Amino acid sequence: MNVLHRLRRAFAAASPEGASPDAFAQAVRPSTDPKFGDYQANGCMAAAKATGRNPRELASAVADRVDLGPMAEAPEVAGPGFLNVRLRDDWISAEMSGLLADDRLGVEPTDDPQTIIIDYSSPNVAKPMHVGHIRSTVIGESVSRILSSLGHKVIRDNHLGDWGLQFGQILWGWKNHLDPEAYDREPVAELARLYRLSASKMKAAEELAPKLEKVRALERQGKPDEAASLFSKLFDDAGMSREQAEAAVAEARAVTEASRQETAKLHAGDPENRKLWEQFMPHCLEALEGIYHRLGVRFDVQLGESFYDAMLTEVVESLKQGGLAEASEGATVVFTESTKAPMIVQKRDGAFTYATSDLAKVKYCEDEFDADRLLYVVDSRQGDHFKQVFDVARRWGYADVDFDHVAFGTILGTDRKPFRTRSGDVVGLESLLDEAVAKAREVVEQNSGHLPEDERARVAEVVGIGAVKYADLSQNRLSDYVFDLDKMVAMIGNTATYLQYAYARTRSIFRKGETTPEAIRRARPTILITHPAERALGVALLRLPETLEAAAAELKPNVLADYLFGLANLFSGFFDACPVLKAESAERRDSRLALCDLTGRTLAFGLELLGIEVVDRM
Ligand code: ARG
Repeated sequence: MNVLHRLRRAFAAASPEGASPDAFAQAVRPSTDPKFGDYQANGCMAAAKATGRNPRELASAVADRVDLGPMAEAPEVAGPGFLNVRLRDDWISAEMSGLLADDRLGVEPTDDPQTIIIDYSSPNVAKPMHVGHIRSTVIGESVSRILSSLGHKVIRDNHLGDWGLQFGQILWGWKNHLDPEAYDREPVAELARLYRLSASKMKAAEELAPKLEKVRALERQGKPDEAASLFSKLFDDAGMSREQAEAAVAEARAVTEASRQETAKLHAGDPENRKLWEQFMPHCLEALEGIYHRLGVRFDVQLGESFYDAMLTEVVESLKQGGLAEASEGATVVFTESTKAPMIVQKRDGAFTYATSDLAKVKYCEDEFDADRLLYVVDSRQGDHFKQVFDVARRWGYADVDFDHVAFGTILGTDRKPFRTRSGDVVGLESLLDEAVAKAREVVEQNSGHLPEDERARVAEVVGIGAVKYADLSQNRLSDYVFDLDKMVAMIGNTATYLQYAYARTRSIFRKGETTPEAIRRARPTILITHPAERALGVALLRLPETLEAAAAELKPNVLADYLFGLANLFSGFFDACPVLKAESAERRDSRLALCDLTGRTLAFGLELLGIEVVDRM
C-alpha cells in the first residue's frame, strides 16, 4: 500500500466524532512545502465547523489518537488546526531498501482491475496527419500506459475516420484531376494532393458564398450602389471580379455536391467507389503507420467508421424500438437532456451520422470485450457530441458502463492563435517531428560533441520526439498550449530534455565509478539519510505509486510529468550537495549510488509511461 493510502487509512481510523472518516482521510495530502512536514491532514477545520468545536483542540485530540506506527511520529498541530506529518528517517531508509529490490518501484496493481477501451488518435485517414493529431495520440498513449501499469486491461482503439466526406472528396479528385504518374510514384502524396485540391475549393465556397449572398441581398432590396461598394470591399483581397466570384462559388458548390454524391455512392455500395476505397485504404494506413512507429504508438484494434457501417441500420431500429429515437422533420433523432439540439441518428436523405457510428461502437465494444469503461481522447470541441452519445448509450442499455470524454485544448502558435504554417495551412505532423529532431540535433551537437555520430543521431531522435511529447503531456490537457520548439528542446526548465539529461547523469555516475546499478542492487546497501537533500529525494521516490494513482484517477499525464520534474530537481539538489563517488565512506558511497539508481529507474519508468525514451548518455 502506498504512503498516502497508509496515512489516509490511519487518519480515517482516528477521525473526529461526527466527521465522515472518508472525507477526513481525503483531506490528507502531500505537503506543498517541506516546512509543513511531508504530508498534511487538513480535515480538522471542516470537522470542527460541522460539530461546533475548536479546530486546534480537535486536531490535537486526533494527533494523540492517530496510530502511524513506525512510519512517523505523532503529527504536529499547526496554524488554525492543520496536522503536519513528518515521516521517520529510519522508516524512509527501510522503505528505500525495499524499493531497491523491487522492479516495480513500489507500484502495486489495483485491486479493482477493469477492462478499459481507450479511443485515441482516431484521425480522418484520407488527410495527412497534422499537428492537431498530436494531442490525442500522445495523451491517449500515455493514459493507456499509466492505466495498464496499474494492472488494468487496456484495449487501445484507433477509431479511424475512414468513411466520411473526405473519401468522397478524394474520389471526386481521382475522377477529375488524377495525375496517374504521380500516383504511381507516391500514392500517399497524390491522394493528399487530391484531397487538398477539393478541400481548398470547398473552403472557397464556405468563405465566399456568404459574402456574395450579402451583396445579392442588397441588390434584391434595390440598392445596386451599396451592393457594388460592398462587393468591392469584400472581394478586394481576393482580387476577383463579380463574374469570377460567382464562378468560384458555383464551382465550389459543385465540388461539394459532387463529393457528397461520391460519398453517398461509396456508402451505398457502388462497386467502382468501393473498389477505389479499398485501393486507397492501405496507402492511407501505411502513412499513418510510419508516424505511429516513430511515436512508439501501437493499437490493439484499428476499427474505423467503415467497420461499424454495416451495423447502423440495426442501431437505429433498436433505438426506435426502445422508444429512444423518433421521426423529426424527415430525419430520425434522439432527444437528450444533455444538449438543446437533438442527436440525429439518420438524416433525411437516409445517411447515418458520426453519432450513429459512435453508438454502434459502444454496442460492439460491449458485445465483444464486455468493457467496464470507455474512454475517448478527443478535442474538447466535441464535448457536446460525447455528452449526447454517453447519455443515449446509457438509456439504450449501457447504464453500468463508465464513459469519459478525455478532452483536451488547442495547440497555439507563438502568436497565441491556432498553430498554422506561414501560408496558413495546418502543420503536417511528419515535418513537425523532423523539425523537432533537427532542433534537438543542434542541442546535441552543442552538448554532446564527444559522442560518435550514430549515437548523436539516435540521441537527437529521442530528444526531439520526447520534447514534442513532453511539451504536450506536461500541460494540463484541458488548457491550450503554445507550440514553441526552441523552448521544448531546452536543457533547462520543465522539458523532456532536462529529465532525459537527469536520467543520463544517474547512469554516467556508475560508469565513472566503474560499477553498475546491478552490482549496487545486489549489494543491498543500507540507505543512509545524512543530509536533508537525501531525505527529500527519498520521500519523493516513495511517492511514485500515489502519483500514478492520482494521474490515473484524473486521466492526466501532467500529474506524472510534474512529479518527474520535481524529482529531477531534487536529484539535482542532492547531486550538488552530496558527493557520491567521493563520499566520506564506502557505506555512504553505496547508499548514494543506490539513490542514483532509484532516481534513474523512477525517471525512466515515469518517462516510459509518458511514452518518452531515455538514453544512457547524452
Ligand atoms: N475522426 C474524428 C475526428 O477527427 C475523431 C474520432 C474520435 N472518436 C470517436 N469515437 N468519435 O474528429
